[in-house]
Amino acid sequence: MTKTIRSLAVLAAAVCLAGSMSFAQSSGEATYKAKCQMCHGAKGAADTPAAKMMKVVPLASPEMKKLTEAEMIKATTDGKAKMPAFKGKLTDAQIKDAVVYFRGLK
Ligand code: HEC
Repeated sequence: MTKTIRSLAVLAAAVCLAGSMSFAQSSGEATYKAKCQMCHGAKGAADTPAAKMMKVVPLASPEMKKLTEAEMIKATTDGKAKMPAFKGKLTDAQIKDAVVYFRGLK
């Protein structure tokens, strides 16, 4: 009986851990897909109709590559040219996670 309870507790802990880990990994991806993808493209290639209309810079371009994570976070928070500001729409943590995910796209 005690043994069953103990293994159940271990199982519950493992499930919790796996749950929180997958959340931490996918939150930037979820934010990017919901808030950035329509203008920056699934792979950051700026290949959506909105991206072409607004002349979004592809992630692979030299201008985009030279930006630091901090510069990207600032541009996303405060906006830049036609890029809308996300201040107040997303939390600082959501912006950072989305930028990290964006920078990791290839
Ligand atoms: C409505 C379309 C649109 C959406 C939505 C959008 N962007 Fe942009 N983004 C742009 C455009 C247009 C530019 C190019 C701005 C310019 O001319 O310098 C840009 C530029 C950027 C840059 C480069 C800024 C710089 O300093 O050159 C980053 C980083 C960026 N976007 C990240 C994001 C992230 C992260 C999101 C989601 C939270 C997002 N964008 C959502 C349109 C958009």
